Parts: sequence; structure tokens; C-alpha cells
Amino acid sequence: MRIAWGITGAGHLLQESVNILIKISKEHEVTVLLSGAGEEVLKMYGLFESVKNLTGGKYRELILEDDQRASFPMTGRFSLGTYDLLIVSPTTSNTIGKIVNGIADTLITNAVAQAGKGHVETFIIPVDLESGDLETVLPSKLELDLCQNCETCDASAACPNDAITPGIEINLLKCKGCGACQTACQFGAVTDGRLINIHMRDIDIQNTNKLYEIRGIKVLRHPKDLKSILF
Ligand SMILES: Cc1cc2nc3c(=O)[nH]c(=O)nc-3n(C[C@H](O)[C@H](O)[C@H](O)COP(=O)(O)O)c2cc1C
Repeated sequence: MRIAWGITGAGHLLQESVNILIKISKEHEVTVLLSGAGEEVLKMYGLFESVKNLTGGKYRELILEDDQRASFPMTGRFSLGTYDLLIVSPTTSNTIGKIVNGIADTLITNAVAQAGKGHVETFIIPVDLESGDLETVLPSKLELDLCQNCETCDASAACPNDAITPGIEINLLKCKGCGACQTACQFGAVTDGRLINIHMRDIDIQNTNKLYEIRGIKVLRHPKDLKSILF
């Protein structure tokens, strides 16, 4: 099968999505589409290179939002029968909100719109599914209560991307999630993958519920639900 897989800027379900993407890429031709935020967040969680390594060759491409300009010409492929399937996982509340309101102004929302016009079956895995709190995972974080404000910050010195301002924060737009800072700090002041609770907003849950009503779109609860469809 020839599949297009979109990744938006969600940390939640990101590792789980990449795990399934890696498996699928072994058996199918997969083009990966990254929203601008999707690219940034993949880098923050140290997953960008694993995704990039899956691509190379015809229909095994890595398509970046930044390379597509305003009209997203590659999404015309969805009207031309190039892909059998479009998967978007994970899908941010932002992207869901746009899809259910018919807005197409990013690489991923354009892909979904064009897939609808080209009758390409679309599977969407939203991050915001149910009301209440959700446990989710953070990228690298400088824990100020553990930071000893050392004269020379070993974590900052170890960072190949100059992403750490000692005693203040990690600049996530520079961080590539390599984990060198975590190993370097003897006080454990850098965490990677700390779990936090976030509250699901009613508006986001309402938008997800509207997604079920869109013809051509199937909503899945978790990336592993793709296994029964694709393997
Ligand atoms: C580290 C990090 C993690 C994020 N995780 C989520 C998330 O799990 N769900 C979500 O809806 N937005 C999340 N965001 C916010 C989105 O990236 C942001 O709303 C972005 O504008 C979404 O753009 P997109 O929908 O075009 O990808 C996260 C942002 C950062 C910096």
C-alpha cells in the first residue's frame, strides 16, 4: 500500500505514533508529512532523525511544511490517486479544530481536505478524546528546584546545540532531545519524559466529536489501533 502519514505538533502519543510508523514503513511505501509544529516537536522529543531515516526514494519522502509554501502543491497528489490512505497521528487540538471547520491552511489540514476531495480514506488519531485530565509526557526540562546553579553548568557545556541557559531554562527550539544534558548534570536537574496532567478543554472535545461525522474520516483512539487495519 502507498500511505501518507501526517504528524502534527503533539507530544502526546508521539512516541507511540512513531513506533507504529516505523513498523508500517517496513511493509508499505510511506510518505511522511510534518506540520511546522510537527517538525519542531519531533526534534524536541529526539524523534526527528528516526522519522527522517525511514524516508528516501520515491513515495518514501519527508515533506516539510516549510518547503511547501502557501498553496501546498504536494497535496494535489491526493486528488490524483497517488495514495491509498492518509493517516494523521498524533493530531493536535489545533489541527482537529481546523479540520472540523473546513479550514485548510497547513500542510496537514490541506492533506486532509484534498484526501476528502480525492476519496482517499483518512484515519485520524486525535490527542484530545475525552473530557477530564490526561497524563502526558514532557520533553527535556530544566528542573529549577533541583538546579544547584553551579559556577560551570555541566548540562549546558554538554549541549551540542547551545540550548541551555544555566539556571533558567532549555530553549526547546534549539533542543534536539539528545539527552546529553541529562547525563551530564550530576544533580539530576534535567529530566526527559516527565509525566504531567493536562486538562482537556470542552471546545477541543466537542471538535473531536464533530470529526466522527465527517464522511471519509475514521477516528481511532490510539496508533496501535492501526495494526488491525495495516498488518
Ligand atoms: C513540547 C510541546 C508539546 C505539545 N504537545 C501538544 C499536544 O500533545 N497536543 C496539542 O494539541 N498541542 C500540543 N502542543 C502545541 C502545538 O504544537 C501547537 O498548538 C501547534 O500550533 C500545533 O500546530 P499543528 O496543529 O499545525 O501541528 C505542544 C507544543 C509543545 C512545544
